[in-house]
Amino acid sequence: MSELGTAALSGKASVTGASARPISDDLRKQVAASAAAYRDKPGALLSVLEETQRLDPNRHLSEDALRAIAEAMDEPLSRVYSVATFYSYYSLVPQGQHVIVVCRGTACHTRGSLGLLQETLAMLGAEDFREDEEASFTTADRKFTVRTVACFGQCALAPVVSLDGVILSRLTPSKLKAAIERVARGGKR
Ligand code: FES
Repeated sequence: MSELGTAALSGKASVTGASARPISDDLRKQVAASAAAYRDKPGALLSVLEETQRLDPNRHLSEDALRAIAEAMDEPLSRVYSVATFYSYYSLVPQGQHVIVVCRGTACHTRGSLGLLQETLAMLGAEDFREDEEASFTTADRKFTVRTVACFGQCALAPVVSLDGVILSRLTPSKLKAAIERVARGGKR
């Protein structure tokens, strides 16, 4: 378990492992507003985590954000942390404006996900990407982040890639390249 996990579960005051960037007053207000809006709705915590990450300028959930969410939702920090680390969509470290997550599970691998990853990395100029679940690459202009995941649970649609949280299925390198070029121009995935 990471230090953050250990600290969060034991309820210690300080946690490490998530970005230490403080959130802005505006984002803190947004967290409170989201918590109020989603309270008592199914999946409330997931929605607040998602909205907070989307509104964060660095598209991530910092330690400060996790604490703000726990407080606003009256949830233990340990629960907020476990949900934020369970789903591959959430990131505790800063990301680019657009996030590409390439599935590298068996079904996707056998249907060409390595080619998708290599095409994406080449397109974005990533030279020494070390493939593991913790690895990520962010372009110098902070426009794109590339990560991998073990399985999205969408194996029947393999190979799949998530682009800004939207699952793109049965991809080929050329289809993925076109989708990345579209979002780079400000269009839809
Ligand atoms: S292996 Fe890619 S979705 Fe399951």
